[in-house]
Amino acid sequence: MIETARQAAYGGGEVLKKYWGHLTRVREKSTEGDLVTEADDESEDRIIEILKKEYPGHQILSEESGIHEAKNHDYLWVIDPLDGTTNYTHQFPMVSVSLALYHKGSPLIGIVYNPILNEFFEASAGNGAALNGKPIHVSSTDKLKKSLLATGFAYNRRETPDNNYAEFCHLTNSCQGVRRAGSAALDLAYVACGRLDGHWEIGLKPWDVAAGALLVEEAGGKVTLFKNEPFDIYAEVILATNGLIHDQINAELIKVREPTT
Ligand code: IPD
Ligand code: CA
Ligand code: CA
Repeated sequence: MIETARQAAYGGGEVLKKYWGHLTRVREKSTEGDLVTEADDESEDRIIEILKKEYPGHQILSEESGIHEAKNHDYLWVIDPLDGTTNYTHQFPMVSVSLALYHKGSPLIGIVYNPILNEFFEASAGNGAALNGKPIHVSSTDKLKKSLLATGFAYNRRETPDNNYAEFCHLTNSCQGVRRAGSAALDLAYVACGRLDGHWEIGLKPWDVAAGALLVEEAGGKVTLFKNEPFDIYAEVILATNGLIHDQINAELIKVREPTT
């Protein structure tokens, strides 16, 4: 299964390389700024083709085409064929293919592949995480004020009051910096390899986090919802850290999200 997962991620990555700087079709989806391109669609087609050929009985959940029903509900592939579409349309190279395999609700495989920067992050349950074949580990920063964090803002940020703006300002004052690079899957991969100490976000979808969460856990980090609730790919929020600053970020998030308590 890991070999098929790798092939599928590389297949999607080939499509992202092909259209890099050569897009002809960019359209808006749900709301202003929520883009989809022929690279998203073709990457998804390629990945699904590879997975279905090997595992026609497995379920698939993919961003652009939704759920692909199958007989075997034990296995679920979760795919973001292009995480960072806005970046992609500007040739800002923080883009990735995100691919995960879940078995009865537990993650087995997580791959986040940036084909432009040639970085392939991979984890499998119980076997640790790696970047381009070399083992990776989360950072050892143990103080929030010494940490570098990342976050992002959902496409409905103009409409929803829960837009992460207050959290962003508050945490910017509590650490060395908060980056907003535009690919949640890569943010998580960067926590896994220690470039970032933590990542939180509101309004994410299962395909944004399914692979990256396993990367962080297998690299020795911690992944939860806010208030340390158990992580769930469908919950739309995430807090992923090196483990050492987890409670400190949680405490700050609680302060800013529930100022009266
Ligand atoms: C987006 C990216 C971004 C995050 C958005 C996501 P997309 O995914 O992960 O970092 O802040 O919430 O929707 O649309 O580029 O696949
Ligand atoms: Ca995404
Ligand atoms: Ca996407």
